[in-house]
Amino acid sequence: MTVQRTFSIIKPDATKRNLTGAINAKFEEAGLRIVAQRRIHLSDEQAKKFYEVHAERPFYGELVEFMTSEPVVVQVLEGEDAVALHRKVMGATNPAEADAGTVRKDFALSIGENSVHGSDSAENAAIEIAQFFTEDQIVG
Ligand code: CMP
Repeated sequence: MTVQRTFSIIKPDATKRNLTGAINAKFEEAGLRIVAQRRIHLSDEQAKKFYEVHAERPFYGELVEFMTSEPVVVQVLEGEDAVALHRKVMGATNPAEADAGTVRKDFALSIGENSVHGSDSAENAAIEIAQFFTEDQIVG
């Protein structure tokens, strides 16, 4: 077990419904520490770049449109095995398949409007964090 950092986004469907605090409470109760956080409105360019691995997927346009529709909260979370722990707390991408008590089971509206994003590996976490935060903005 090692202390890791992961990147998290509280998505537009959740910020719109004023769920930032409720979602952060689940992260903190699980043992994740919010070591950086900023509420921003993603530009079209930022959203396209962030999700460029999905550029060929049929839902890419819809995904970019959704992610730029309302503010998001970008975050760096720190904790023991933070990448896996965060993904466990988020639950499955599709809320219909998410376990009880997870963020997506409790709050997500659909597979697209699924309330949160989390990095899928430590390597991708470092890449995603660097798109939104400089090292001096992360206070552990
Ligand atoms: P996220 O973890 O942010 O990474 C990619 C996102 O694409 C995913 O969460 C979903 O919100 C979205 N996504 C995945 N599959 C679909 C789909 N079939 N239709 C719409 N959006 C999707």
